[in-house]
Amino acid sequence: MTTPLIAPSILSADFSKMGEAVSEIQTSGADWVHIDVMDGVFVPNLTFGPKMVSDLRPHAALPFDVHLMIEKPDQLIPAFAEAGADYITFHLEAVVHAHRTVQMIRNLGKKPGISIVPSTPVSFLEELLPFIDQILIMTVNPGFGGQSLIETCLDKIRTLVAIRQERRLSFLIAADGGINVQTAPAVRNAGTDVLIAGSAFFSARDKKQLIQELKG
Ligand code: DX5
Ligand code: ZN
Repeated sequence: MTTPLIAPSILSADFSKMGEAVSEIQTSGADWVHIDVMDGVFVPNLTFGPKMVSDLRPHAALPFDVHLMIEKPDQLIPAFAEAGADYITFHLEAVVHAHRTVQMIRNLGKKPGISIVPSTPVSFLEELLPFIDQILIMTVNPGFGGQSLIETCLDKIRTLVAIRQERRLSFLIAADGGINVQTAPAVRNAGTDVLIAGSAFFSARDKKQLIQELKG
């Protein structure tokens, strides 16, 4: 098993100090910055828009992984691309024409990702797998940091690992929600490539050590 990438989520940072939070993610030895965008409609919480991404862009050279938990993502994807996103991940449940949204992200020169909530089966992604760079498996119901990981979601990761090998594809598999030092071994063992962690990162006193522990 290869060492996973770690993507701390700024959702659990102090919103009055976002620039510092992103610099801290970089100096901790983490791999990506995970940016949770919520619209108060697709999920019952609100965060921020493209301006946050463009304002944060100078604070770290790490890839920006923008997780859109919003309805009608097509309307905002060009603005997030322009703002400096590297990966743009939207929810399968939020769109009808997911393939079109994937093409839009690709045409903007960004890496498309699709996320599914705990109640959506992996089989719904079947037609889309050859076209995407990342599958983000929600391991909690999206909307808030600090929730407990839903263990059964790890079965979806095992399924995706098998499908990827069988179909000779190369997308990354990310897990998001409830990941901490206690749960990380099971998430890694399922074959996850990217571990996203919000509250575990921002509550850790020694962030460098936390990143090493999450990597295993
Ligand atoms: C939840 C977000 C997650 C969140 C994870 O809707 O998509 O990225 O920040 O937070 P923790 O790691 O605290 O579960
Ligand atoms: Zn997220």
